[in-house]
Amino acid sequence: MLNWDDPIAQFKPTGQPNPAETIADEPVLNIDQGPEDSPARNEEQVISAPVTDEQTSTIKPEHIQEQGVTGLEEVEFGAGRLAVDDKAMINCRSDVNQLVPFKYKWAWQKYLDGCANHWMPQEINMTADIALWKDPNGLTEDERTLVKRNLGFFSTADSLVANNLVLAVYRHITNPECRQYLLRQAFEEALHTHAYQYCIESLGLDEAEVFNMYREVESIHAKAAWATQFTDSLGDRNFSTGTHEDDQRLLRDLIAFYVVFEGIFFYVGFVQILSMGRRNKMTGVAEQFQYILRDESMHMNFGIDVINQIKVENPGLWTEEFQQQIIQLIREAVELEIAYAHDTMPRGVLGLNANMFEDYLGFIANRRCAQIGLPEQYQDATNPFPWMSEVMDLQKEKNFFETRVTEYQTGGALSWD
Ligand SMILES: [Fe+2]
Ligand SMILES: [Fe+2]
Repeated sequence: MLNWDDPIAQFKPTGQPNPAETIADEPVLNIDQGPEDSPARNEEQVISAPVTDEQTSTIKPEHIQEQGVTGLEEVEFGAGRLAVDDKAMINCRSDVNQLVPFKYKWAWQKYLDGCANHWMPQEINMTADIALWKDPNGLTEDERTLVKRNLGFFSTADSLVANNLVLAVYRHITNPECRQYLLRQAFEEALHTHAYQYCIESLGLDEAEVFNMYREVESIHAKAAWATQFTDSLGDRNFSTGTHEDDQRLLRDLIAFYVVFEGIFFYVGFVQILSMGRRNKMTGVAEQFQYILRDESMHMNFGIDVINQIKVENPGLWTEEFQQQIIQLIREAVELEIAYAHDTMPRGVLGLNANMFEDYLGFIANRRCAQIGLPEQYQDATNPFPWMSEVMDLQKEKNFFETRVTEYQTGGALSWD
């Protein structure tokens, strides 16, 4: 456990103010904004109690009082046992290595659900896709462009999500149930990158061309560049939560990745590839995307739950100005995704056209706004692809393309010889 009586122990080598230089009127988080029984409030009361008159002139700056533990702290022998109310989504200062008692049962349930949906890319039969791709008359040039550009975007996109989780978000989420899900999610992101690589390899595509699209195709680059600025911001080794601004920075990153990247930037590609599958084209690739979509919708729902829980525990973060910033981010993202729809589908194909995606993205963005408590932004937007919700509601025992039973079994792969 951290020693809260020793402010020096909390100091970072660079990028943080020295306690001796701290001024008394430095802004302090208003803990009264939290609910009466919020863990943050209780912890603040405990921690602030020993402060004496002499100490008030060098009172610890706000970020030092509030920043959370990471789990790398020394294990304190004989420390008091963890109570459920000690837990918090961010800035928790009690032991983060104890999974139970559960506070956020929804996070644990999502971890269990993710495990129950386990799948592997090589379980999916790609034979028909390979034959169709190699047949010179099998697909139109527009259909080939659509497949290649989507594989181009997604083959690096899931790495960006994984980087954000592992290098930026994980450290700052101070709850073990949520961290358990983040670890599951990180593995699923690895599976997704594996799945895209498996498609690219099966079809014999030019790997350098596909994996470099995020540096060479403008609309793909724009989405990747938009997202990585948020990872870069949190990945700064001197960054920690604990101030109003820094907590907002984490919340902004969570929204950028869970609501925008996984909740908006994936959806044009999902609709396009699943449309091919519905027309009995590239059914193996479509099936891979179908499983990925199921995982991604759970990632997004988890992220939205985390975001809303952080809002509940830290209501002061959700200022009008911050909401306007987030609305602006979502609007920018919709424009980038519309550009991507045009780039992947310069002409109408498969009964789809870019205008349908403009409508769809307005519909999706409205849903995302509502899910995090923002007003809808796109009046009269409708969903031209109602079948997408059927795909997302896929049960593990029922396969959309009816090519295989998808119940996952474990235990058959080990050999001790
Ligand atoms: Fe993914
Ligand atoms: Fe994901």
